[in-house]
Amino acid sequence: MVNLITVQQSNSQLKNTSIYPSEPVAVIAGGTSGIGKATAKAFAKSTVCPRVYILGRSQESADRVIGECKALNPKGTFKFIGADLSLIKNVDDVCERIKRYESRINPLILSTGMSLSNTVTEEKLHRLVAMAYYSRIRMAQNLLHLLSSAAPFARVVVVGAGGREGHVHTDDLQGLKVSLRHIRGHITAMITLALEKLAQEAPTVSFVHDYPGTVRTALFDRGGTWILQVFKAFLWLSERWLCVPIEECGERHVFLSTTPRYAPAEGSQITAKDSVFRGSDGQTGSGVYSVGWDCESSPSSVETLLATQREDGTADAIWRHTMDQFARITAL
Ligand SMILES: NC(=O)c1ccc[n+]([C@@H]2O[C@H](COP(=O)([O-])OP(=O)(O)OC[C@H]3O[C@@H](n4cnc5c(N)ncnc54)[C@H](OP(=O)(O)O)[C@@H]3O)[C@@H](O)[C@H]2O)c1
Repeated sequence: MVNLITVQQSNSQLKNTSIYPSEPVAVIAGGTSGIGKATAKAFAKSTVCPRVYILGRSQESADRVIGECKALNPKGTFKFIGADLSLIKNVDDVCERIKRYESRINPLILSTGMSLSNTVTEEKLHRLVAMAYYSRIRMAQNLLHLLSSAAPFARVVVVGAGGREGHVHTDDLQGLKVSLRHIRGHITAMITLALEKLAQEAPTVSFVHDYPGTVRTALFDRGGTWILQVFKAFLWLSERWLCVPIEECGERHVFLSTTPRYAPAEGSQITAKDSVFRGSDGQTGSGVYSVGWDCESSPSSVETLLATQREDGTADAIWRHTMDQFARITAL
């Protein structure tokens, strides 16, 4: 486990301009509340003169986050871009806007929330998977060039369920018929394997897919299925023991976004090889990392599962399907 003191020590180095850029650019999708908001605040506090793009839908929530970030770091610039990111076309528009303002991005943090909905978007994507997978992969792919320009301080962090990779239903990649019980493993493996494809295109960028732990956020305050209601009651009773406090979660996500220990496949700045984490293919410093709430690499059972999915063609099938969906949607 990477303990909180190690996380905080690493984050406290970010104001040292020989270690980290003095004007880092962060893009945080889902930055208006919950984990994204906590990360935006921790990033504002830890860096010298950051420029942070906060993506979400609610202007009111964004105004609140921006006010809190400004209070933590008056030298920072915080900008809201409002859009429904369940739609690929909106993701493309948002990326075009960011490209107009910036020539590089340091961390891209993908923390948009999701609803357990079996509906489809107007672009004919399963809404749940659109938010968790397609929209995030599209944004990372669109911004890959800007990320590469920020190497060796470039990172994509996907807030999801790293370490919970499971069977991929290759006959139903959109997961429309996959049960609630199995959909998490399905989406999680799709994300990690797709990040590996992106890493091949941009080997100087590193990619982290993490599970944040159970964090008390608005995600649990919404209505929803009876399972969610039972889980909420359980959380309320056991929060002290089971949940990762939101501030700690923000600090851990700054660590995930900045420490050189999640090294890219090429151009790593780190010389102490033993402090680099093990990648999703089991190799130290391989550039893609599936990690748990404690920031440690996933167990070897996950690496074995992913290896099988690479060898049996699942990873290629996911990538082909994803590119086909993007091509279909952009042709609409
Ligand atoms: N909290 C946990 O215990 C936990 C555990 C494991 C994984 N996760 C994952 O972590 C991620 C963040 O969760 P959270 O707990 O921080 O959730 P949250 O508090 O509900 O925050 C979700 C964020 O996503 C934005 N968002 C939601 N739908 C959107 C849409 N259609 N378009 C654009 N932005 C949208 C929200 O902004 P607006 O309201 O402004 O649109 C908000 O900023 C989720 O993917 C969740 O599955 C969370």
